[in-house]
Amino acid sequence: MQAQQRPVVVQGAMDVETQHIIAHLTESHEEPFGPFRCVRGLYEGQPLVVSETQWGMANASALAALAIARYQPQAVISQGTAGAHDPALDVYDIVLGVRTANSSAWQSHYRAAGSGVDYRGLKKLGVFAWDERQKAFTQEVYHEGDAVLLAAARQAAASYRRGRVVEGTITTCDSWNCEVDRIAFLRESYGSLAEEMEGDAVAQVCQSFGVPFLDVRIISNSILRNQDPWDLGTGSVCQDFVLALLRAYWRQGHEAIG
Ligand code: 5AD
Repeated sequence: MQAQQRPVVVQGAMDVETQHIIAHLTESHEEPFGPFRCVRGLYEGQPLVVSETQWGMANASALAALAIARYQPQAVISQGTAGAHDPALDVYDIVLGVRTANSSAWQSHYRAAGSGVDYRGLKKLGVFAWDERQKAFTQEVYHEGDAVLLAAARQAAASYRRGRVVEGTITTCDSWNCEVDRIAFLRESYGSLAEEMEGDAVAQVCQSFGVPFLDVRIISNSILRNQDPWDLGTGSVCQDFVLALLRAYWRQGHEAIG
């Protein structure tokens, strides 16, 4: 495949996190992976694949690996809703994942039988991904978002009107935390601004296969500000932001080539 024909893959877990982008595609084709929806098409004349993963790390990472094998994408974006870890964040604020971390990858310190449990008493382990510079699988807590995608996201941020756009760490885990003290612990321990259930698992796979990756999340709930339940109206707003990011990304590419 020619470099310029390679698509960008955008993942979202739910219909409300994918359908808005799919509706903007021209020449679209349904190309499912088994029971999982996947649609290929063009956006502003550029190849784009939208993959609906359902919730969670295993689904999102499996579909990332399948999409990498099938499409050899230029880049993969994980996007959708998230819960706030930073009390300053409001519903409709967007977090750009400068880095992601798997907050379920830890080892607890030894405690004898009957001495209880303490979720703060742990050592962060990280997860194994291929490090191209070291030519080895290395165990890392954080995965960095791609600088070019991040630059495009910053351009999109300039015209975002529904809230603020902030940059920082997003944690991923197959859990939804509602204990304020646990959220405070995660924030302190990982420096996280928000949590979700897919991003870092996809970052890990993308790093191993050398595919640029970015996690883009919209705050849809904040237990810290009583902004619960989940505002699913944020799903299409996040997708609009990602469409603006893609326009900027492709513009940058043209500028870099031209
Ligand atoms: N905690 C974890 N995941 C969340 N999501 C939205 N809010 C949260 C939260 N507070 C996202 C996950 C998953 C689905 C539950 O929505 O990424 O796809």
